[in-house]
Amino acid sequence: MAEIAPSILAADFANLQRDIEMINSSSADYIHVDIMDGMFVPNISFGIPVCQAISKHARKPLDVHLMIEQPDRYLLDFKKAGASGLTVHYEACPHLHRTIQHIKEVGATAGVALNPHTPVEVLSEVLGDLDLVLIMSVNPGFGGQKFIENTYKKIAQLSSLREKSGYTFKIEVDGGVNLDNAPLLVREGVDILVAGSFVFSSTEPLETISLLKNT
Ligand code: DX5
Ligand code: ZN
Repeated sequence: MAEIAPSILAADFANLQRDIEMINSSSADYIHVDIMDGMFVPNISFGIPVCQAISKHARKPLDVHLMIEQPDRYLLDFKKAGASGLTVHYEACPHLHRTIQHIKEVGATAGVALNPHTPVEVLSEVLGDLDLVLIMSVNPGFGGQKFIENTYKKIAQLSSLREKSGYTFKIEVDGGVNLDNAPLLVREGVDILVAGSFVFSSTEPLETISLLKNT
């Protein structure tokens, strides 16, 4: 059993309200909101006003994934736009400890994401401050990419660090998640599965969400 965060990046942007209502009526636990700035990642998704519009209709907490440079500039704006959790990238934060405290100050739960090439050990000194660690299982920037197999090993390492330390952060995985890889991810210690194209390309998205949840 995992928590599910359907990624709105894979929704039909011309029918956002309809797709948010689908998630509202599903067994999903969050709505995953991908913010891309065209600098930290090659793609641009959408920004604060769209996040606010999503929040207006959402009845699930917004799990906001900031794939942006210098995220401190926008933490308060995204919190005001309805974010419940804010996740920044390790690779974008030279003063990560300060940024984590800043997320907490604005009143959101604090997450840090790791790109596929970044080892989990880099977070050892801040794990006790975190509510969430997001392991990227694709290179961030686009939906619909192929799951990177090395992710299982990273999840297992992080999960064992969590066990040894007694910390309580959740482990989330993002990119290429589907029913083939979800069971093993959950077995290795994942608490939250993000799924974009797998949910939105399904002819029965409600059923797909509940199948993922019950892996
Ligand atoms: C990728 C984003 C993901 C993306 C996942 O950069 O962070 O959240 O929406 O999409 P799928 O599930 O299609 O890989
Ligand atoms: Zn994401």
